[in-house]
Amino acid sequence: MLIRRAKKEDYAVFAAIEAEQPGFPAWGAAGFEAEERNRNSVTLAAELDGAVAGFINFWVLRPQVQLNTLAVGRAFRRRGAARALVGKLAEYAAKNLCREIDLEVNEHNSAAIALYTALGFELAGKRPKFYNNTDAALLLRKTLAPKD
Ligand SMILES: CC(C)(COP(=O)(O)OP(=O)(O)OC[C@H]1O[C@@H](n2cnc3c(N)ncnc32)[C@H](O)[C@@H]1OP(=O)(O)O)[C@@H](O)C(=O)NCCC(=O)NCCS
Repeated sequence: MLIRRAKKEDYAVFAAIEAEQPGFPAWGAAGFEAEERNRNSVTLAAELDGAVAGFINFWVLRPQVQLNTLAVGRAFRRRGAARALVGKLAEYAAKNLCREIDLEVNEHNSAAIALYTALGFELAGKRPKFYNNTDAALLLRKTLAPKD
């Protein structure tokens, strides 16, 4: 498993991973490219078996980090890529003296909720009808201890 900064050549693969997931709020390759102009934005790629397996994007907004998007290709799931990507986010958070990681997840996304719960995120709020004016968003938060 390799976690590294994303490159322009990765964005088409990220878009293909997004497209595998029905209803996923996709950024598309242009969306990832636009993030290069945001100095608070970090996009990372996960590689498995030498292939791009997944991605994460977050904003470092001290004292918070906002996790904006995360996905792993279907062929690479349950091999720890998402756990490693969020782990690297936590390293960035600690280095930048951030104490809180925040994210929104669809209330019906059981895989992602299981992932975040396993990683120590807790429910911090709920936004009704956030996705397509139907599904609620759960606001999840992880507070980092100074040693994290
Ligand atoms: C959610 C997602 C990112 C998980 O990626 P992944 O690389 O398969 O996750 P990991 O292998 O790192 O899983 C780590 C832990 O999360 C939990 N988990 C992950 N997927 C799960 C699932 N489908 N069901 C139950 N628990 C799951 C487990 O505790 C898992 O540990 P384990 O495999 O040792 O049991 C992936 O399913 C995905 O891309 N889904 C579509 C996009 C999406 O929903 N993104 C999140 C938006 S907020």
